Amino acid sequence: MTGNMEQFDDKSAQEVLGWALAEYGDKIGLACSFGAEDMVLVDMIAKIDPKARIFTLDTGRLAQETYNVMDEARVKYGVEFEVYFPRTEAVEAMEKEHGPNLFYNSIELRKLCCKVRKMEPLKRAFGGLDAWITGLRREQAVTRTGVSKVERDEANDLIKINPLADWSEERTWAYIKENDVPYNALHDQGYPSIGCAPCTRAVAPGEDVRAGRWWWETPEQKECGLHAKEKTK
Ligand code: ADX
Ligand code: SF4
Repeated sequence: MTGNMEQFDDKSAQEVLGWALAEYGDKIGLACSFGAEDMVLVDMIAKIDPKARIFTLDTGRLAQETYNVMDEARVKYGVEFEVYFPRTEAVEAMEKEHGPNLFYNSIELRKLCCKVRKMEPLKRAFGGLDAWITGLRREQAVTRTGVSKVERDEANDLIKINPLADWSEERTWAYIKENDVPYNALHDQGYPSIGCAPCTRAVAPGEDVRAGRWWWETPEQKECGLHAKEKTK
């Protein structure tokens, strides 16, 4: 892309999306986990161009509620989600060696599972893309305070678009309610942030939004590699 990326920082989410979809066409895709932020983006994108690409990494360990919202959104918006699964042989080998609950045993094994179930499918999803869109918000985590609306993703050699970078949790929910956006039923059961079922739990009122993700790890470790700053091997 040409021009200065900071010029987007004072633009609205819809303006950033409108620009990005026009600029990159079928070379851009939304990475959708069906969390609240991603549902806001699905709604906005479907209103701009329902044929725009939206992909999801189905790790095989998602909650039923996540599949439910995926289905609801397919019907409501008429969009087709591109689904990427992990490689069968890699999952089989990993579970044979480390068991099905390896993520609880060490950070290394948790990262191995994220690598097999998320990172490798993500690399395939990136094939043919020049840019990707995410639902990252600066407020979400200590690891995300530096997120810009349009940035260069050095780790993946792509442009990364984060239209909700400056949104608060309240604003996200206000948009969902005002626009009648389908959302994951787990949000009403105390889950502000939702990943794989075995690695996500409800949080107590007032607790940090990511406290229920990989709750046995410290805040600095709670990234699965999807949003790494440096290249992962
Ligand atoms: S994670 O890295 O800790 O899992 P989080 O759940 O906060 O991330 O989601 C941040 C963004 O990463 C989402 O808005 C979405 O763009 C992308 N993302 C996370 N999980 C997935 C997934 N399973 N499939 C596609 N995109 C995902
Ligand atoms: Fe595996 Fe948990 Fe990572 Fe999902 S979040 S890929 S189950 S370690």
